[in-house]
Amino acid sequence: MKALILSGGKGTRLRPLTHTGAKQLVPVANKPILWYGIESIVAAGVIDIGIIISPETGEEIKAKTGNGDCFGAKITYILQDAPLGLAHAVKVARPFLEDSPFIMYLGDNLIQDDLSSFLEAFKTQNLDALILLRTVSNPTAFGVAKVDEKGRVLQLVEKPKNPPSNLALVGLYFFSSAIHSAIASIQPSARGELEITDAIQALIERQKPVEALQLIGWWLDTGKKDDLLEANRIILDTCLQIAVDGEVDSQSQIIGRVCIGANSKIINSTIRGPVIIGENCHIENCFIGPYTSVADRVTLCDADIEHSVILQDAKVSGIHQRIVDSAIGQRARLEVAPQRPKALRFLIGDDSHIELV
Ligand code: DAU
Repeated sequence: MKALILSGGKGTRLRPLTHTGAKQLVPVANKPILWYGIESIVAAGVIDIGIIISPETGEEIKAKTGNGDCFGAKITYILQDAPLGLAHAVKVARPFLEDSPFIMYLGDNLIQDDLSSFLEAFKTQNLDALILLRTVSNPTAFGVAKVDEKGRVLQLVEKPKNPPSNLALVGLYFFSSAIHSAIASIQPSARGELEITDAIQALIERQKPVEALQLIGWWLDTGKKDDLLEANRIILDTCLQIAVDGEVDSQSQIIGRVCIGANSKIINSTIRGPVIIGENCHIENCFIGPYTSVADRVTLCDADIEHSVILQDAKVSGIHQRIVDSAIGQRARLEVAPQRPKALRFLIGDDSHIELV
């Protein structure tokens, strides 16, 4: 059994956070989204993992994720020249996959469920494809499945205008080598992509065994800011371990589940968990409220912030109106003068979003 994680694509929906980086490396609770996928694949006993990368962001993914040693896995990077679709990525990965069955995992998805029981079902039932489904309120944004009462898949459509059901395909699939000839039989869709949904539909039409199971735990497609904040909230709620490695002065209060990385300094501040703070951060005269993740080397001075994600090397100072529901990108600076400001001065990148509410 092998695994293929798709971390190519362009990531337009998380702009500007991903103008300069891969969306799969955006951290959730200070850990890249992609790493959660790698960890759950390894936890299911699959260690031969191929990762699809794009020319734009591939080097960054390779540099950060490495050869797999730290996950107990062997990682092979596979370059996809252009984001021509999920099925195209499988085609490009064929020399790595050979005729092995494989798990396919979309690198921007976060899935709570343990993969082992799905893998077991896939193997014991000798399936050619096992897909995972979840009820959603906005099926037009996903691949959508129509299934019969026994869970057999009747029809799959990608981002339909008139969805046949509200069952979305989650970014986790199990395939036998039969998927390759199905991919060879399909044509690019109207949006110019080779769709994996069309390839699975081709398997169904050939009467191949294709089944669907419903996810039990939560699932987040972290492509948009609110999904990212929600993923951050859930991971902090469910997985955060208390650990204080940094320095906390006697004027500061740490309440609830808080993790503070090495060499970070907390001065005259209140941190109310669940909160994670990375390494080498400076936090002074601040309130940091629940569901906030602060990455490495962030400086926060005279600021109140909660339910937010702040990426590496960002700086926020002089803002005591509470900053909420925010994602602040790498090296971003948000500074308000100590005296009441008389003017607002901005240098805001493309696609940025500022709300004074
Ligand atoms: O999140 C679940 C949904 O994921 C499914 O319901 C859809 O059926 C499926 O098509 C997919 O839709 P998305 O619009 O979310 O796909 P996206 O373009 O965001 O790509 C998903 C991941 O695959 C992402 O990490 C980028 C990567 N990718 C994408 C394409 C198109 C590649 O590596 N190569 C590609 O060519």
